[in-house]
Amino acid sequence: MKSQEIRETFLDFFKNKEHKIVPSAPMVVKDDPTLMFVNSGMAPFKEYFLGNGNPPSPRIADTQKCLRVSGKHNDLEEVGYDTYHHTFFEMMGNWSFGEYFKKEAIAWAWELLTEVFKISKDQLYVTVFEGSEEDQLPMDNEAFELWSQFVSKERILMGNKKDNFWEMGDQGPCGPCSEIHVDIRPETERKQKPGSELVNKDHPQVVEIWNLVFMQYNRKANGSLVVLPQKHIDTGMGFERLCMVLQGKTSNYDTDVFTPLISWLEHHTSIKYGVDEKSDIAMRVVCDHIRTVAFAIADGQLPSNTGAGYVIRRILRRAIRYGFTFLKQENPFMNKLVSVLTANMGDAFPELKDQQQLIENVIREEEHAFLRTLEQGLSMLNRVISESPNKKLSGTKVFELYDTFGFPVDLTALILRENGMDYDHQGFEKAMKEQKDRSRAAGESKTGDWIEISNKKEEDEFVGYDQLESDVYILRYRKVESKKDGTLFQLVFNKTPFYAEGGGQVGDKGYLEDRNGDVVYILDTKKENNVIIHITKNLPNHLEDKHHAVVETNQRFSTQRNHTATHLLHQALRKILGTHVEQKGSSVQANHLRFDFSHFSKVTSEELQEVEDFVNDSINNKLPLIEQRAIPMQKAIEEGAMALFGEKYGDKVRTIRFGDSIELCGGTHVGNTADIWYFKILSESAVAAGVRRIEAITGDAAKNYFKEQEDTIEQLKELIGNQKSPVKAVRDLQEENTSLQKEIDQLKKAMAGDIKEDLKQKIESFDNLNFLAQKVDLDPQAVKDVCYQLGNEVNELFVLLGSENNGKAMLTCYISKELVSARNLNAGTIVRELGKYIQGGGGGQAFFATAGGKNVDGIPQALEAARTYLT
Ligand code: SER
Repeated sequence: MKSQEIRETFLDFFKNKEHKIVPSAPMVVKDDPTLMFVNSGMAPFKEYFLGNGNPPSPRIADTQKCLRVSGKHNDLEEVGYDTYHHTFFEMMGNWSFGEYFKKEAIAWAWELLTEVFKISKDQLYVTVFEGSEEDQLPMDNEAFELWSQFVSKERILMGNKKDNFWEMGDQGPCGPCSEIHVDIRPETERKQKPGSELVNKDHPQVVEIWNLVFMQYNRKANGSLVVLPQKHIDTGMGFERLCMVLQGKTSNYDTDVFTPLISWLEHHTSIKYGVDEKSDIAMRVVCDHIRTVAFAIADGQLPSNTGAGYVIRRILRRAIRYGFTFLKQENPFMNKLVSVLTANMGDAFPELKDQQQLIENVIREEEHAFLRTLEQGLSMLNRVISESPNKKLSGTKVFELYDTFGFPVDLTALILRENGMDYDHQGFEKAMKEQKDRSRAAGESKTGDWIEISNKKEEDEFVGYDQLESDVYILRYRKVESKKDGTLFQLVFNKTPFYAEGGGQVGDKGYLEDRNGDVVYILDTKKENNVIIHITKNLPNHLEDKHHAVVETNQRFSTQRNHTATHLLHQALRKILGTHVEQKGSSVQANHLRFDFSHFSKVTSEELQEVEDFVNDSINNKLPLIEQRAIPMQKAIEEGAMALFGEKYGDKVRTIRFGDSIELCGGTHVGNTADIWYFKILSESAVAAGVRRIEAITGDAAKNYFKEQEDTIEQLKELIGNQKSPVKAVRDLQEENTSLQKEIDQLKKAMAGDIKEDLKQKIESFDNLNFLAQKVDLDPQAVKDVCYQLGNEVNELFVLLGSENNGKAMLTCYISKELVSARNLNAGTIVRELGKYIQGGGGGQAFFATAGGKNVDGIPQALEAARTYLT
């Protein structure tokens, strides 16, 4: 079976068991502070497990794009070295939300593997949770009994908490699990040693392919477990591993998921896969990482210097570096793999096809930049090696190369080894740990458990599209302590007028008022796993009471001006630059907006003017807001709304229309474009290859901007004393300035000529040479000129001139070439030594050198000391 067929067979199987098939969610997580990337098939459904929303169906199946590169589940270091771990992989899964449980999950898994995929039963093993004293949990007898119906007892193995109790993070839904392992060793080997002895022993041919998790508990902040109100099923099957088994291979990289990439690399590098261990590892790393990076960019995550973007940048650099060292790739090559990947996976994941050019450009640019870094790092390292007195480089030097220049440590180690050197590993680890501790301490926070207050939950939680104040009840709250913000509280209401940060728009601020008129300020509003969280510094006095919640309207109104303007800007860019323009990021604040979009060249000032005019025309046309709250996604798309890559949409969506601008959007907007007042672009710049950024302002910020401009012009007019035509006056001033400068230069030259003649008179002749040591009042260039001129006119000349320049002392030494060799003199050495008088240093050539220093009072002493070199 081809991989594409395997994917379809899985989904069809569960479709026939009444599961709703949903597309993969984007990999970059936006509303869960505990998770950067989707790390398992269940992550996008976490809100349903927590009871924060209703799934579109109680039975769901999909194939989910996953990344395991940070946090609790991180496989990065394994990748490349073995043949079955990946950073990016597809996890196929089926889910039951409070509906079927262990019985069906186990029976269907077995049916699919043995009857549909026809994996031989004597190659399969299953594991069952053995219980945990620490958590006071018994063995999972139920699962054991259920498996016994299909599998002989010696193939059912007991597993400990590490392998058979699944938790997504430190807190949250979890439960015992049963894993299905497959033994793909040749029959003779299987006969010699039973696979049961190799399960969970890191054997590359006895691997887990499917994990069935029985969600029964919620792990609280204090580590205790509470039973979930409803039981759920979460299963996850590694797609690439299943392909390996069904295609009769012994490595994921030998399946048709990877072979096109490997073949391209073999061809491009002229290195055969399967011959040398080191280049094999490198090829696997490259093939794995290109998928991670390409899918991340397709999901809207560009490489950057912080957060999720930094993780992606590091992964890309890891691959470039393996290519550089082990595949001899000194020029960008990863970007060329994108088309191979797209040809192979673009049908199943159209986001790759649609954004292929952007992905290639971004990767190419990153490759160029990092290869430059590698080159600089290499020359720096070579210098350090040649200057190093001993065979061991200090740990801090290696850390500096890594930290400041992004030069990989293992590459440093390799190059040192090649030069018969090593580095102080302990010192390096220490520097590394210190840095980690510093950043951990800065970002550390402790989140308490939710304390339940009321159960007056309402179906429609957010009422803030229509209301800016509302009477609310507090459902629950928790405490969060962090170094950065101190102690804060998070409050959840039964309903709220507060908009939670999302879709680029900032969260609302405001206050809660109790029956006595006491007020608690709401500092920010955020969404977490689909719950709206209000952040306060203090807790209200009467938690159970009804409170009046009021949104701060100034911020809200300014923000919505910017949000509507962002939509108009998006429309304008697509009209004026072309429909290749797609939103790549957006930040809508009260005082400005920032919009990132795909476009391959700088937007010209004429184009920017057109864009600005277009938006201001829409404002002048007084377009009313036409909002549809819950229309089917399909209908919205038919009406012309555009779904963005990297966004998660439900079946029902909200659309926002102003004239011909129509967007899928959950944000808040003005009632009429006229409310925006004016739109002004402040800047246009590059964010990455093929991604541009526009920053703009509207409303009061635009008014203030024009006011400031006006004030500046007024001040200018006043300064130049010309009210009518300030531009002409400044131009006249500039011209005058140029001609004055010319005059000054000429005068300086004349003055230097006079000074030179003066100095010539002061030359003393003794001991067959001509000696001059004087203080002069000239700038450095003039001093140099004078020295050279004197040198042309007088033979056997030794000159030391002292001068002051911007409060600093300077010594300049000139020695005729014939004196340099005849008397073995060196101007460089002389100024370096005399530098001590002026508290400084310098150097240069044997016939001409300069020194600079702090102490101008030392100049006469230095001039005096010059004589000692000649007697
Ligand atoms: N959540 C489980 C896993 O990731 C099964 O989907 O292994």
